[in-house]
Amino acid sequence: MVKPAGSVFLKLVAFTLLLQWGGANKPNFVIILTDDQDITLGGMTPMQKAQSLIGDMGVTFNNAFVTTPVCCPSRTSIISGLYQHNHRTVNNTEEGNCFGERWREEVEPYAFPTVLNSDGYRTFYAGKYLNMYGYTSEGVTHVPPGWDWWIGLVGNSQYYNYSLSVNGTEVKHGDSEEDYLTDLITSYSLDFLRQSDILSSGFMMVLCPPSAHAPFTPSKKYTDYFRNVTAMKTQNFNLPVGVDKHWLLRMSPSVLPESTLEILDAHYRNRWETLLSVDDLIESVIMELESLGVLDNTYIIYTSDHGFHIGQFAMPWDKRQPYEFDIRIPLLLRGPGVPKGQIISDPVLNIDIAPTVIDIANLSSLVELDGKSFKESLAGQNTTGREFVIEYVGEGSDLTVDEDCPLVLDNKLMYCSVDGSCKCQDSRNNTYSCLRRISAAENILYCQFDDDEAFKEAYDINADPDQLNNLAYQLSADVVSEYESTLQYMSTCAGAACNSPPKQ
Ligand SMILES: *[C@@H]1O[C@H](CO)[C@@H](O)[C@H](O)[C@H]1NC(C)=O
Ligand SMILES: *[C@@H]1O[C@H](CO)[C@@H](O)[C@H](O)[C@H]1NC(C)=O
Ligand SMILES: *[C@@H]1O[C@H](CO)[C@@H](O)[C@H](O)[C@H]1NC(C)=O
Ligand SMILES: *[C@@H]1O[C@H](CO)[C@@H](O)[C@H](O)[C@H]1NC(C)=O
Repeated sequence: MVKPAGSVFLKLVAFTLLLQWGGANKPNFVIILTDDQDITLGGMTPMQKAQSLIGDMGVTFNNAFVTTPVCCPSRTSIISGLYQHNHRTVNNTEEGNCFGERWREEVEPYAFPTVLNSDGYRTFYAGKYLNMYGYTSEGVTHVPPGWDWWIGLVGNSQYYNYSLSVNGTEVKHGDSEEDYLTDLITSYSLDFLRQSDILSSGFMMVLCPPSAHAPFTPSKKYTDYFRNVTAMKTQNFNLPVGVDKHWLLRMSPSVLPESTLEILDAHYRNRWETLLSVDDLIESVIMELESLGVLDNTYIIYTSDHGFHIGQFAMPWDKRQPYEFDIRIPLLLRGPGVPKGQIISDPVLNIDIAPTVIDIANLSSLVELDGKSFKESLAGQNTTGREFVIEYVGEGSDLTVDEDCPLVLDNKLMYCSVDGSCKCQDSRNNTYSCLRRISAAENILYCQFDDDEAFKEAYDINADPDQLNNLAYQLSADVVSEYESTLQYMSTCAGAACNSPPKQ
């Protein structure tokens, strides 16, 4: 081997040192994304460790929202930084672009993990990805670009009896105690962290436990832990709605019977019990980061893909509605320089996660993003407010809904179950776009439904946090016209323009 000449050799040494020094100073990222975890129904109450290890050691955003309240579209918004009208993933099926061909070609290669990975970050993914992951023709052999370690769950959230793609190879799990998915994610995470080489290159982990999604199965350790807990009785709990709500909510039964309320209570406490395992996951990962000496250089972000309702407006349990319980999410963040124990009211969105991570890592996105970095908010700087659009395309079955539910065959309803008193949770025309505006002067929601009635709903969230009084038909023509033109603009915006709507 020819020795490099002196000066070249010194340059090489200097370059290598610079690389290592640069690597050691790169911040690391750990992102924990839960499934269907609400904030307005007390979804964070069981998570005492997350609150003390992330919230108290960092900031809690109390105005965090998703722009589409259903799994695949929202997860796509998180990873891509784009609104639904730009990523065009409209539901949880392959035809709806949930991990469809277009998704794999137009969304996945430009998502934030590839930006960090090509900068040298070592990356790790474990848990639920997208509802259709593993079901397309490539099956589990598809390892998304941007990941060094890939532990992807096939399909939708499960706790037992599932398959994983471990770096592209299928691994099946049964239902013995050690198969509990959240705990398995913990153990893979620790394996990854114990790789000596990741510390010098900087690392990014995304952990996606199935909690608190159906089938709401707690681990053996936590079964019956919250035995006496019942569903939260918000003001709108099991409240029969009048003519002022869109038609899906007006379907019968107008109130849920006692037998269904018992099921709601069971789901509510089981959801909490599943979250205790996520709390343990957080504690284990943080303890490991600390023992490796990298905790102080690691940003930890905790959030959910959307909220949830359990009995609100006498709907059984689901998401897919534009109300606060479905669109608000928990968002906690700690990291270098982030103040401790502060509540931040700046509105932040699921589409902001990608630009924020890229911004903190001091990198550039490959495409223009609709969301914006909230790095400045971390320092406690207050922005002036925000407006954004909530977009949803209703899912519906062409024929009937559920063989056991006595409903007509042509109404394109979906998610109707006997347990839920055959009250359906979605329909093809439960399609809407809403303007959500939060400023010093206003805190409003204005929705247009794409149904036969062209129904409208509007709420003053400060005066009416439970959204009991629809004001849409009492607003002045000027106000309606301003909301509608802003909504129109926001529903087609792209990139930075989404964050600077024209002043009316
Ligand atoms: C996954 O692949 C990475 C990169 O090749 C490797 O370092 C790691 O050990 C693999 N993990 C598992 C669980 O096989
Ligand atoms: C897992 O699958 C087995 C075999 O189909 C079944 O007997 C068992 O009840 C399942 N366990 C859970 C927790 O669903
Ligand atoms: C739950 O309620 C029962 C009956 O009201 C009571 O005996 C029991 O101590 C309670 N359990 C817990 C864990 O609070
Ligand atoms: C999902 O969206 C696609 C594309 O619009 C549509 O063809 C499909 O019927 C939708 N699926 C459901 C269940 O509504």
